[in-house]
Amino acid sequence: MKISILYFSQTGNTRTMAEIVAEGARAVPGVEVGLFPLDAIDKEFLDASKAVFFGTPTYLASTCWQWKKWFDEPAPCPLGGKLGAVFATANFAQGGADIALQTLLCHMLVKGMLVYSGGGACGSPYTHLGAVALRENFEESKALFRIFGERVARKALELFPEGK
Ligand SMILES: Cc1cc2nc3c(=O)[nH]c(=O)nc-3n(C[C@H](O)[C@H](O)[C@H](O)COP(=O)(O)O)c2cc1C
Repeated sequence: MKISILYFSQTGNTRTMAEIVAEGARAVPGVEVGLFPLDAIDKEFLDASKAVFFGTPTYLASTCWQWKKWFDEPAPCPLGGKLGAVFATANFAQGGADIALQTLLCHMLVKGMLVYSGGGACGSPYTHLGAVALRENFEESKALFRIFGERVARKALELFPEGK
């Protein structure tokens, strides 16, 4: 089963976390991961993906405008029915990363995606709306991002066992 991990990153933080999410998803047998920056998305791979992660830096306490623009325009392929999950990086705890996640989740719902995070249902570490890494605990957050990638990949396999 294919899973796409899409991210926007200007200074590398979100890209680093996208790589960690990819590592977690790849740990699930049967999963093939495609990791793409927003400006180099492989449309065929995305189209064939059953699950899609979106990663964003927090800008002005919200999703970066680059993702807003991407969602405003016609999608490169239908996103409806795919499982979706989100992650964000930010400078500060009060910097609005949760709003960045929530905004992305809203865009995904509008496109007809099924959204998932594991929430509190998977126990610790908790990922209520998705995974967040702040500047002050960036390195420590990597373990959570790996688990997040793995959890969402397992859920995708559970929902789409045939992987097609
Ligand atoms: C235009 C701009 C606006 C930002 N606004 C916020 C913000 O509101 N809250 C916050 O915590 N960090 C903010 N940041 C910091 C970034 O979210 C943070 O450095 C992020 O990890 C950058 O991701 P990247 O390295 O993948 O580009 C802002 C950065 C930029 C460039």
